[in-house]
Amino acid sequence: MTKAWVEENVTRPMRRIGVGKLGMVQLYWNDYDKKNYVDAALFLTDLKRAGKIGAVSLTNFDTKRVKEMVDAGAEISTNQIQYSLLDRRPEKVMVDYCRQTGVGLLPYGVVAGGLLSDKYLDARAEDVVTNTSSLRKYASVIGQVGGYQWYQSLLRTLRAVGDKHDGASIANVASKWVLDSPAVPAIIVGARNANHVSDHLALFDFDLDADDRAAIASVLAKGAQPTEDAYTWERGGRW
Ligand SMILES: NC(=O)c1ccc[n+]([C@@H]2O[C@H](COP(=O)([O-])OP(=O)(O)OC[C@H]3O[C@@H](n4cnc5c(N)ncnc54)[C@H](OP(=O)(O)O)[C@@H]3O)[C@@H](O)[C@H]2O)c1
Repeated sequence: MTKAWVEENVTRPMRRIGVGKLGMVQLYWNDYDKKNYVDAALFLTDLKRAGKIGAVSLTNFDTKRVKEMVDAGAEISTNQIQYSLLDRRPEKVMVDYCRQTGVGLLPYGVVAGGLLSDKYLDARAEDVVTNTSSLRKYASVIGQVGGYQWYQSLLRTLRAVGDKHDGASIANVASKWVLDSPAVPAIIVGARNANHVSDHLALFDFDLDADDRAAIASVLAKGAQPTEDAYTWERGGRW
């Protein structure tokens, strides 16, 4: 991991798309045993200071490794990780760390590939078709955190909360819950069509109140609680 290699891999896409600056570069690292991700983050920070990158970001790093990079002097804007009503692993330690340091979380999986939407409310388990790797992953998350009956009770609670707010969709309530986290400046939602887009825009028409949050917390408390940090399970660790 040399400075020249990082610089070349940032300037090559800039040349290809004909821009003088990349808005954001996200770093992912597979093998934590190789510590060169710290060097990579520092070289990216140099490129940011030189005006070639707007923001240096990470994806799927755990808190310990984000801290290593920040402590070494890397200027990290965000860490893109899975965070949703089904996946609350970031709340173990990452959210607090982000609040202290100003690193933002940029969550994906917020509506769990659509599993957190009205489409699956009251669906029978055998009718849920998990025909993409993404849906299979999010379905396996349901298996980790409470199973199908618990998941349906969560959907019913979200539906009741949405009904209280002029029929806000389950996707809206699930998205709002994540967006309300103090460490989350923005969320990623995979809109596939115009209906999804207009539905997501309705996200800003309501706020979750204390009763809503208590009703949701009560269902979450009945599920299994995460034991590890974000993206540890995906690297072969426990949920
Ligand atoms: N860094 C990483 O490791 C990582 C991993 C995953 C994703 N991502 C990023 O996140 C992006 C989004 O992926 P995701 O996995 O997070 O997807 P997602 O937003 O959890 O799910 C997208 C699916 O949810 C359903 N949906 C979206 N909006 C809806 C709405 N308003 N109402 C009802 N259903 C709705 C749609 O399903 P239907 O088509 O069935 O309606 C859509 O295909 C990706 O493109 C990628 O950039 C990053």
